[in-house]
Amino acid sequence: MTVAAMEIESRILDMLQKVGIRKGQTILDFGCGYGMYTIPVAKIAGKQGRVYALDKDKEALDALMQKTKSACLKNVERMETSGELEIELADETVDVVLLFDVFHSFYFPQAGDRRRLLGEIYRIMKPSAFLSVSVWPNLIETETEDEIKNVNFRLEKEVPETLTDGNKDLETRRILSFRKARHVPIIVVLNNQSRRRQYEQDSANHGPKF
Ligand SMILES: C[S@@+](CC[C@H](N)C(=O)[O-])C[C@H]1O[C@@H](n2cnc3c(N)ncnc32)[C@H](O)[C@@H]1O
Repeated sequence: MTVAAMEIESRILDMLQKVGIRKGQTILDFGCGYGMYTIPVAKIAGKQGRVYALDKDKEALDALMQKTKSACLKNVERMETSGELEIELADETVDVVLLFDVFHSFYFPQAGDRRRLLGEIYRIMKPSAFLSVSVWPNLIETETEDEIKNVNFRLEKEVPETLTDGNKDLETRRILSFRKARHVPIIVVLNNQSRRRQYEQDSANHGPKF
Protein backbone atom coordinates (compact mmCIF):
# COMPACT_ATOMS: atom_id res chain seq x y z
CA MET A 1 0.00 0.00 0.00
CA THR A 2 1.32 3.48 -0.85
CA VAL A 3 1.65 6.17 1.83
CA ALA A 4 -1.27 8.07 0.24
CA ALA A 5 -3.47 4.94 0.26
CA MET A 6 -2.55 4.27 3.91
CA GLU A 7 -3.45 7.86 4.82
CA ILE A 8 -6.84 7.53 3.05
CA GLU A 9 -7.59 4.22 4.77
CA SER A 10 -6.64 5.55 8.17
CA ARG A 11 -9.04 8.49 7.72
CA ILE A 12 -11.81 6.11 6.60
CA LEU A 13 -11.18 3.85 9.64
CA ASP A 14 -11.37 6.88 11.92
CA MET A 15 -14.63 8.05 10.32
CA LEU A 16 -16.18 4.55 10.50
CA GLN A 17 -15.33 4.29 14.20
CA LYS A 18 -17.04 7.65 14.79
CA VAL A 19 -20.04 6.37 12.83
CA GLY A 20 -20.26 3.38 15.23
CA ILE A 21 -18.68 0.41 13.43
CA ARG A 22 -17.48 -2.06 16.07
CA LYS A 23 -15.83 -5.46 16.42
CA GLY A 24 -18.24 -8.40 16.03
CA GLN A 25 -20.98 -6.57 14.13
CA THR A 26 -22.86 -7.97 11.16
CA ILE A 27 -22.83 -5.30 8.46
CA LEU A 28 -24.47 -4.98 5.07
CA ASP A 29 -22.60 -2.70 2.64
CA PHE A 30 -25.33 -2.13 0.05
CA GLY A 31 -23.83 -0.89 -3.23
CA CYS A 32 -20.32 -1.64 -1.95
CA GLY A 33 -18.66 -1.07 -5.34
CA TYR A 34 -14.91 -1.70 -5.26
CA GLY A 35 -14.92 -1.83 -1.47
CA MET A 36 -13.57 1.56 -0.44
CA TYR A 37 -15.56 1.12 2.82
CA THR A 38 -16.08 -2.67 2.80
CA ILE A 39 -12.42 -3.43 3.49
CA PRO A 40 -11.98 -1.02 6.43
CA VAL A 41 -15.36 -2.09 7.84
CA ALA A 42 -14.27 -5.75 7.64
CA LYS A 43 -11.01 -4.87 9.41
CA ILE A 44 -12.92 -3.28 12.30
CA ALA A 45 -15.59 -6.02 12.49
CA GLY A 46 -12.86 -8.66 12.77
CA LYS A 47 -13.14 -12.43 12.86
CA GLN A 48 -16.32 -12.45 14.93
CA GLY A 49 -17.98 -10.00 12.57
CA ARG A 50 -19.42 -10.47 9.10
CA VAL A 51 -19.69 -8.06 6.18
CA TYR A 52 -22.13 -8.66 3.34
CA ALA A 53 -20.77 -6.94 0.22
CA LEU A 54 -23.78 -6.41 -2.03
CA ASP A 55 -23.61 -4.99 -5.53
CA LYS A 56 -24.98 -5.55 -9.02
CA ASP A 57 -21.58 -4.83 -10.59
CA LYS A 58 -19.81 -8.18 -11.07
CA GLU A 59 -16.50 -6.58 -12.02
CA ALA A 60 -16.45 -4.41 -8.88
CA LEU A 61 -17.25 -7.43 -6.71
CA ASP A 62 -14.50 -9.49 -8.40
CA ALA A 63 -11.98 -6.74 -7.65
CA LEU A 64 -13.24 -6.38 -4.08
CA MET A 65 -13.00 -10.11 -3.37
CA GLN A 66 -9.44 -10.08 -4.74
CA LYS A 67 -8.62 -7.28 -2.28
CA THR A 68 -10.10 -9.24 0.64
CA LYS A 69 -7.90 -12.18 -0.34
CA SER A 70 -4.75 -10.03 -0.42
CA ALA A 71 -5.68 -8.55 2.96
CA CYS A 72 -6.41 -12.07 4.38
CA LEU A 73 -9.95 -11.01 5.31
CA LYS A 74 -12.25 -13.99 5.63
CA ASN A 75 -15.31 -12.19 7.00
CA VAL A 76 -16.57 -10.65 3.73
CA GLU A 77 -19.40 -12.42 1.93
CA ARG A 78 -20.10 -11.56 -1.70
CA MET A 79 -23.74 -10.84 -2.59
CA GLU A 80 -24.07 -10.32 -6.32
CA THR A 81 -27.54 -9.19 -7.40
CA SER A 82 -29.31 -8.06 -10.55
CA GLY A 83 -30.17 -4.74 -8.93
CA GLU A 84 -33.37 -6.02 -7.32
CA LEU A 85 -34.60 -4.25 -4.21
CA GLU A 86 -35.21 -7.41 -2.19
CA ILE A 87 -32.30 -8.29 0.07
CA GLU A 88 -31.63 -11.97 0.65
CA LEU A 89 -31.10 -11.72 4.39
CA ALA A 90 -33.43 -12.82 7.19
CA ASP A 91 -35.48 -10.40 9.32
CA GLU A 92 -33.63 -8.55 12.11
CA THR A 93 -30.20 -10.09 11.50
CA VAL A 94 -27.99 -7.10 10.71
CA ASP A 95 -26.38 -4.58 13.11
CA VAL A 96 -25.43 -1.95 10.54
CA VAL A 97 -26.45 -1.11 6.98
CA LEU A 98 -24.19 1.16 4.93
CA LEU A 99 -25.75 3.08 2.05
CA PHE A 100 -22.67 4.97 0.92
CA ASP A 101 -22.99 7.08 -2.20
CA VAL A 102 -25.81 4.96 -3.57
CA PHE A 103 -29.08 6.25 -2.08
CA HIS A 104 -29.78 8.98 -4.59
CA SER A 105 -31.78 9.48 -7.74
CA PHE A 106 -28.91 8.51 -10.05
CA TYR A 107 -29.33 4.86 -8.99
CA PHE A 108 -32.91 5.03 -7.71
CA PRO A 109 -34.81 7.61 -9.78
CA GLN A 110 -38.23 6.42 -8.59
CA ALA A 111 -39.27 7.54 -5.09
CA GLY A 112 -41.28 4.29 -4.80
CA ASP A 113 -38.12 2.21 -5.32
CA ARG A 114 -36.26 4.21 -2.68
CA ARG A 115 -39.15 3.57 -0.25
CA ARG A 116 -39.15 -0.17 -1.04
CA LEU A 117 -35.40 -0.36 -0.49
CA LEU A 118 -35.73 1.41 2.87
CA GLY A 119 -38.50 -1.05 3.77
CA GLU A 120 -36.20 -3.99 3.05
CA ILE A 121 -33.41 -2.38 5.05
CA TYR A 122 -35.78 -1.81 7.98
CA ARG A 123 -36.84 -5.48 7.83
CA ILE A 124 -33.30 -6.91 8.04
CA MET A 125 -32.10 -4.49 10.76
CA LYS A 126 -32.02 -5.74 14.35
CA PRO A 127 -34.04 -3.50 16.72
CA SER A 128 -30.76 -2.01 17.97
CA ALA A 129 -29.23 -1.58 14.50
CA PHE A 130 -28.43 1.63 12.66
CA LEU A 131 -28.48 2.73 9.04
CA SER A 132 -25.62 4.91 7.83
CA VAL A 133 -26.22 7.01 4.71
CA SER A 134 -23.80 9.22 2.82
CA VAL A 135 -23.97 11.21 -0.36
CA TRP A 136 -21.58 13.53 -2.13
CA PRO A 137 -22.24 17.15 -1.19
CA ASN A 138 -23.38 18.13 -4.65
CA LEU A 139 -25.80 15.20 -4.73
CA ILE A 140 -27.44 15.87 -1.38
CA GLU A 141 -31.10 16.13 -2.10
CA THR A 142 -32.91 18.07 0.54
CA GLU A 143 -35.65 15.48 0.69
CA THR A 144 -33.31 12.50 1.37
CA GLU A 145 -33.34 12.96 5.14
CA ASP A 146 -37.13 13.40 5.20
CA GLU A 147 -37.66 10.42 2.90
CA ILE A 148 -35.80 8.21 5.38
CA LYS A 149 -37.56 9.69 8.42
CA ASN A 150 -40.94 9.21 6.71
CA VAL A 151 -40.51 5.43 6.71
CA ASN A 152 -40.08 5.01 10.43
CA PHE A 153 -36.44 5.93 10.99
CA ARG A 154 -35.17 8.69 13.23
CA LEU A 155 -31.96 10.64 12.70
CA GLU A 156 -29.54 9.90 15.50
CA LYS A 157 -26.33 11.67 14.55
CA GLU A 158 -24.28 13.18 11.79
CA VAL A 159 -20.56 12.65 11.20
CA PRO A 160 -18.67 14.83 8.71
CA GLU A 161 -16.24 13.11 6.37
CA THR A 162 -13.58 15.13 4.58
CA LEU A 163 -12.69 13.41 1.34
CA THR A 164 -9.07 13.49 0.26
CA ASP A 165 -7.01 12.26 -2.66
CA GLY A 166 -4.13 11.65 -0.27
CA ASN A 167 -2.48 15.01 -1.02
CA LYS A 168 -5.20 17.58 -0.49
CA ASP A 169 -8.68 17.70 1.00
CA LEU A 170 -11.36 17.74 -1.67
CA GLU A 171 -14.73 18.25 0.01
CA THR A 172 -16.69 17.40 3.13
CA ARG A 173 -19.79 15.27 3.04
CA ARG A 174 -22.34 14.24 5.65
CA ILE A 175 -22.72 10.70 7.00
CA LEU A 176 -26.16 10.43 8.60
CA SER A 177 -27.01 7.67 11.10
CA PHE A 178 -30.61 6.56 11.55
CA ARG A 179 -32.22 4.19 14.06
CA LYS A 180 -35.54 2.41 13.86
CA ALA A 181 -38.01 4.99 15.14
CA ARG A 182 -40.01 2.50 17.18
CA HIS A 183 -37.44 2.93 19.97
CA VAL A 184 -38.52 6.53 20.48
CA PRO A 185 -41.83 5.87 22.29
CA ILE A 186 -40.03 3.46 24.69
CA ILE A 187 -37.56 6.21 25.62
CA VAL A 188 -40.43 8.69 25.98
CA VAL A 189 -42.35 6.27 28.24
CA LEU A 190 -39.27 5.70 30.41
CA ASN A 191 -38.67 9.44 30.59
CA ASN A 192 -42.29 10.03 31.53
CA GLN A 193 -42.12 7.32 34.19
CA SER A 194 -38.96 8.75 35.70
CA ARG A 195 -40.41 12.26 35.44
CA ARG A 196 -43.59 11.09 37.21
CA ARG A 197 -41.49 9.38 39.90
CA GLN A 198 -39.49 12.61 40.33
CA TYR A 199 -42.75 14.61 40.47
CA GLU A 200 -44.18 12.27 43.13
CA GLN A 201 -40.98 12.56 45.17
CA ASP A 202 -40.96 16.35 44.77
CA SER A 203 -44.62 16.56 45.80
CA ALA A 204 -43.96 14.38 48.84
CA ASN A 205 -40.98 16.53 49.86
CA HIS A 206 -42.24 19.98 48.99
CA GLY A 207 -45.99 19.68 48.39
CA PRO A 208 -48.67 20.88 50.80
CA LYS A 209 -48.72 18.95 54.07
CA PHE A 210 -52.10 18.22 55.69
C1 LIG B 1 -20.96 5.31 -6.52
S1 LIG B 1 -20.78 3.62 -6.18
C2 LIG B 1 -20.46 3.66 -4.42
C3 LIG B 1 -19.57 2.53 -4.00
C4 LIG B 1 -19.22 2.53 -2.52
N1 LIG B 1 -20.38 2.38 -1.69
C5 LIG B 1 -18.45 3.80 -2.15
O1 LIG B 1 -19.01 4.66 -1.47
O2 LIG B 1 -17.30 3.91 -2.54
C6 LIG B 1 -22.45 2.99 -6.21
C7 LIG B 1 -22.52 1.48 -6.26
O3 LIG B 1 -23.86 1.07 -6.05
C8 LIG B 1 -24.15 -0.01 -6.91
N2 LIG B 1 -25.61 -0.09 -7.09
C9 LIG B 1 -26.43 0.85 -7.60
N3 LIG B 1 -27.71 0.44 -7.62
C10 LIG B 1 -27.70 -0.83 -7.10
C11 LIG B 1 -28.72 -1.81 -6.87
N4 LIG B 1 -29.99 -1.59 -7.18
N5 LIG B 1 -28.35 -2.99 -6.34
C12 LIG B 1 -27.04 -3.23 -6.04
N6 LIG B 1 -26.03 -2.35 -6.24
C13 LIG B 1 -26.36 -1.15 -6.77
C14 LIG B 1 -23.38 0.33 -8.18
O4 LIG B 1 -23.16 -0.83 -8.96
C15 LIG B 1 -22.10 0.91 -7.62
O5 LIG B 1 -21.11 -0.07 -7.43
